[in-house]
Amino acid sequence: MRPGGHAHGQGVRRAGGAAAAPPARGQPPAARGRALRLGRRDREQRDRGLRALPAPQVHAGADHDGTRQGLPDGQRGRAQRRGRTQGPPGVVKTWSLQRSLIAIAFVVSLLAWGAGGALILGAAQRHSEDLHDVALRQTAKLLMGLSVHEIDELAGTNIEVRIANGKADTANTLGEDYRYQLWSRDGQLLLSNFGLPSAAAMARMGSPGYSWLQMDGELWRVYALVSADTGDELQLAERAATRGWFLHAVDWRLWLLGPASLLLVFAAGLLLVRRVLRPLRTLSDELDARAPGHREQLQLKDAPAELQPIVRAMNGLFVRMNDAMAREAQFTAMAAHELRTPLASLRVLAQNVAHAADARAREESVRDLVASVDRCAHLQEQLLTLARLDAPHDGEMAEEVNLTEVISDVVAQVAPEARAKGVAIACRSDAALLSGHSFGVQTLLRNLLSNALKYTPPGGRVELQVHSLGPDLRLMLDDSGSGIPPADRERMFERFERMHREQASGVGLGLSIVRSVVLAHGASIRLDDSPLGGLRVVVDFPGRRIDTGALEPAPEDTAPA
Ligand SMILES: Nc1ncnc2c1ncn2[C@@H]1O[C@H](COP(=O)(O)OP(=O)(O)OP(=O)(O)O)[C@@H](O)[C@H]1O
Ligand SMILES: [Mg+2]
Repeated sequence: MRPGGHAHGQGVRRAGGAAAAPPARGQPPAARGRALRLGRRDREQRDRGLRALPAPQVHAGADHDGTRQGLPDGQRGRAQRRGRTQGPPGVVKTWSLQRSLIAIAFVVSLLAWGAGGALILGAAQRHSEDLHDVALRQTAKLLMGLSVHEIDELAGTNIEVRIANGKADTANTLGEDYRYQLWSRDGQLLLSNFGLPSAAAMARMGSPGYSWLQMDGELWRVYALVSADTGDELQLAERAATRGWFLHAVDWRLWLLGPASLLLVFAAGLLLVRRVLRPLRTLSDELDARAPGHREQLQLKDAPAELQPIVRAMNGLFVRMNDAMAREAQFTAMAAHELRTPLASLRVLAQNVAHAADARAREESVRDLVASVDRCAHLQEQLLTLARLDAPHDGEMAEEVNLTEVISDVVAQVAPEARAKGVAIACRSDAALLSGHSFGVQTLLRNLLSNALKYTPPGGRVELQVHSLGPDLRLMLDDSGSGIPPADRERMFERFERMHREQASGVGLGLSIVRSVVLAHGASIRLDDSPLGGLRVVVDFPGRRIDTGALEPAPEDTAPA
């Protein structure tokens, strides 16, 4: 028969022959009382348990290259840093923060300086040109006034010959960097401070204004001024090279400013990076010197605020790792302790077999021996399950678990035991899919059902129900067994805890395993009194139900026949 089915409210059937059997050894009558809930501390433990690294990884990380063994502390730190930087070829690719920061600062300041310098120079050049043009125009006006007097002085001399051979302006008033000519309205050259043939290049323009002119292989800036009274035209040319004096005067300072600012950026960047990296180096040395299990929190003195989250995260990690290691050590000690008793009894039983007086006694001893071996095997199986569930991987927590199928499988597994004991199992389940750890949910159900069967006397009954409450799922298991007194309920979740240590069956790990699964799912579990007379276990999986829309109806109530 299959488990599952809609909540018909009458899903209890007998599991098999209802042969009466004595209650389980050492079981006290069930006491009634308040339900037990797992609190915040347990949820924190779950969080820590889920994130904790398995011990081998922790140790492997401590000295994976093996090359630092035997080195003094300081050298060990340096060796480790070197190892991290160089690493095995092709495995770890590293880059230098210091070099990158300086390179970025260098390139950015070079670009900024180049662009800023070009802008400043351009603006200065334009300004200088304007100033020179204004000065040229003023000089031209001045010359126009003076030229009347100059022409009077030259009257009577052969002006054409003087201009052709050299300078008509014998005093050369404006020096070598300026040239001027005065033309009459009818195109006659009246005055010049330089000779032919260059003079021919500056022919009368006829219109006032500025222009550029190539003369004697050089560039000149020319301003032409036309007299409103006489119609004479004065042309004044200034050597372009002279106009650039400003640039020649300032450019070496600008060029010096560039490398100087780059040098400054380089030095400041180097200092800053060294300052930032110093606490990291201290941190690295401190981490390197740490022994496993070191409980003290890391302190990063004199560190920038940006590094504090790293220190906080590491301290959190240390706490979790230390907890995991402590749990591991405690678990190993307990497991070793628990294995000692059955192994000792195995030894005694084996000796009994060897020294059995007759065949009947030997047969009995062999039977006891086999039962004891089974118990040892069960203990080992539970220990393995617990170890596996202690560190489930994140991905496994979101598997799609079909509860109807899981119930069907688990009931099939315990059906022979139920049949042999005459305990009826009834299942009522909403057709539900749960998002969780498939192996974990199976293990939870198997342990709870196995407990219900184990601690329910022959002829009793067990009811399993699964309800969907919106996005939540509730699993409820009732039995008509002895129950657990309220005062002992919390204790029963601890490893190797049993109501009566002398009870033959069970090793006391089932409920710890159940709790591991519950915590890993962010679920809650509570033990209560069952209306059937025994124990009620309620497990709530909040937000774990997968919305399947129109899922096919769940099967009917079933029970092992
Ligand atoms: N349904 C129940 N009815 C009565 N007592 C129970 C029930 N479930 C558990 N207990 C008590 O709680 C104790 C702890 O249960 P738990 O499942 O952890 O261990 P176990 O059943 O003894 O061993 P294991 O499950 O590891 O084989 C049991 O020994 C039993 O005394
Ligand atoms: Mg159990």
